[in-house]
Amino acid sequence: MCKQQGARADHPGNGTLYDTSKFCGGLWGEEKRIAALESLGMLDTPREQLFDQVTSLLMKIFDTQCSHLVLIDPNRCWFKSWQGRWKEFETDTDHGRNVECAREDGWCNYILVPDFAEILIIEDATKDARLALNPFVVGPPHFCFYAGAPLVGSRGERYGTLCVADFQPRTFQAEQYSLLINYAALVVEELERDKPTVDLLSETSANYVERSRHLDLSIQASEQGVCMVDLRDALWPLMFANDKFLEVAGVPRDDDLKQHFFWHLFSNSKTTPLEFSLATGLGDTFEMDVRCQKTDKDLHVQMLPGTSDRLAPSKATAIPGWVPSQESEAFSQDVHTRISGGKGTEMVRDCKCFWFVIISETVPLTVGTLKAAESKSEKAEKGDKEKDGDEILKGGYRTERRPSNSTTTGSIGSGSLSTLSSSWTSFYGDYPLPPKLSGKVEMGPLLGTGSFGKAYRGVMKDHKPVAVKVVDCRRRDDNAIKDQLREVQFSASMDHENVVKTLDYATSSGTTKKRQIDILWIVQELCDMGDLVSATERGVLRVDRKITSPADPKTVMSVLMDIARGMEFIHSCNVIHSDLTGRNVLLCSDSSGAVPFRAKVADFGLARYSIGCKALPAKDLGTVTHMPPELMDPNGGELVGQADVWAFGVLAWEAYHGKRCYQGKNPAQIVISIFRGNTPQWSEDAGELAVLMKKCISYEVKDRPAFSEVVQGLQNMKVE
Ligand SMILES: Nc1ncnc2c1ncn2[C@@H]1O[C@H](COP(=O)(O)OP(=O)(O)O)[C@@H](O)[C@H]1O
Ligand SMILES: [Mg+2]
Repeated sequence: MCKQQGARADHPGNGTLYDTSKFCGGLWGEEKRIAALESLGMLDTPREQLFDQVTSLLMKIFDTQCSHLVLIDPNRCWFKSWQGRWKEFETDTDHGRNVECAREDGWCNYILVPDFAEILIIEDATKDARLALNPFVVGPPHFCFYAGAPLVGSRGERYGTLCVADFQPRTFQAEQYSLLINYAALVVEELERDKPTVDLLSETSANYVERSRHLDLSIQASEQGVCMVDLRDALWPLMFANDKFLEVAGVPRDDDLKQHFFWHLFSNSKTTPLEFSLATGLGDTFEMDVRCQKTDKDLHVQMLPGTSDRLAPSKATAIPGWVPSQESEAFSQDVHTRISGGKGTEMVRDCKCFWFVIISETVPLTVGTLKAAESKSEKAEKGDKEKDGDEILKGGYRTERRPSNSTTTGSIGSGSLSTLSSSWTSFYGDYPLPPKLSGKVEMGPLLGTGSFGKAYRGVMKDHKPVAVKVVDCRRRDDNAIKDQLREVQFSASMDHENVVKTLDYATSSGTTKKRQIDILWIVQELCDMGDLVSATERGVLRVDRKITSPADPKTVMSVLMDIARGMEFIHSCNVIHSDLTGRNVLLCSDSSGAVPFRAKVADFGLARYSIGCKALPAKDLGTVTHMPPELMDPNGGELVGQADVWAFGVLAWEAYHGKRCYQGKNPAQIVISIFRGNTPQWSEDAGELAVLMKKCISYEVKDRPAFSEVVQGLQNMKVE
């Protein structure tokens, strides 16, 4: 069937996967995103010391040849700060030296593609479908490695990126990328500094990120002093400090930071060096009281490991599942070799030595700052009663200090030094793991966000890596937890090699002022290669991981076969998945088959139980790009098992063509396209696969094959 050679007829020009300017970073429309960006008043302004400090520090920490801070406007990637080889691209303007590039040429543009904020990591651009033909890769300065953390604003808008780049392939661990994410969060605080907080809090269009962000540290970062210290030196040299920190510490703004050491600026008579080394050695967050040498003021200080994911706003930025983690040496080594060919990879030597110090004047900051924020929000609420976004936002406030008896750490020191919790935590926001899971599993960096839940990397007591999906039911009706629980119960009972295994689950609840919050915790097997969409974008399904390269029939067929088998099993359990998309198909490395990974169907969040072939009334709908016409009926759609078959046809098109279906169209345009009979056009070289998949995308439900027939059909196809 599929031809191995020759560029596909439909591949886009200019070496781009698709027109990334059609994406706007999730739930925000591009217009609103641009308006938010412009309201910062940062575009076309001179360089600023603080941002330059951040980029030059990151270049040092990651040991890369370049680092930059970019804002993405409608036409350009505009550089607020740049270091290293970017100097070659400087031009003179009214506001001084300037660097910018066309938006489509900027790698940063891809930060706007995923629906939910995710760090963009290109370990080797010459082997990445998105960038292998990018002008900065094929031409000077021939970039190779790139990692860009999105600059996620307080309402979830993505302004741009904070990046490190290099000319050889590089690999870092998930925890190390947390450092970049944390700096991106700090940069956003600085960018948004002049935006009144009250406006942010009363905004009714508060989106997902804002609703779920727990304001623990992000608000503090803007109002409190933050610095970073290097703990390898006993005096703790300062590596970075914001203006507030310098003010509190009594350091003149233009002083060279290199001359300053934390323990010259502050003193602490209560904590012994042993207590410090115990706390820092464990990588735990801790608090202490210090006295400022210059002002004699007593201050309260919170210490966070630089790689902790607790500085970022509610862990809003995900780190893709294929990035190796320090908690999983054995298999990360394997992922390593596969992704980057094992060449020229060099780890940051010891990221754990960098700690953020967040300082507040005497009042313990967790209470003080939040009270202040709360009163602001109450004021805002008066004029804006009971708006959903606001109420939920308030649910995120912590009015009491989180109990410090975290399962991961004991209390160290007495009074002056207390541990909060590890960077690997047992908490989701303010809520501890339920007793059934506590002590069994630890949570690490965010792996991904979906419509209902957030999935975190996790590790079991026996060091087995897992994913912990946390579904926060506060946004849904009272029965949400019951519905969700039912779905989990049947997903837990499903045992098939092509269905993501649920290992354990539990519920917990907490209360905000207004209502009960139910949280569902699902422990699943970890799919270490991430989801099918990102694998496709990286070029994993192509013969060669370049944009011009055709689909690799062996890989595509293996993935489709895996999914079809998983779905055949799911349907045999009388379950309709109802949200089968590339984001809900996860890949696990597996050396036993013809290709080095296995695809598994995940996310039963919208799954429905259906006896026989009875149609169900459409309820929560899945993803519009993958939705069959019968579900789109404005007079009440009907859900039947064959809806999953249609979705499979769309998914297969995406896997084969290496890009998203209906990209650039909004939901209304997609619905119109489908009603007009404009289904995805298959490339001619897809042969028999196209014939079978076109059957899956039949307008008549009865014309769609069952998954058992799809499996049979795929089996009968010969892969050259
Ligand atoms: N078991 C897992 N292993 C690795 N990544 C996962 C796992 N489960 C979820 N993820 C990541 O989290 C994202 C959201 O999870 P999902 O189960 O789809 O949640 P939702 O119901 O909110 O859509 C996924 O797209 C994926 O990137
Ligand atoms: Mg999902």
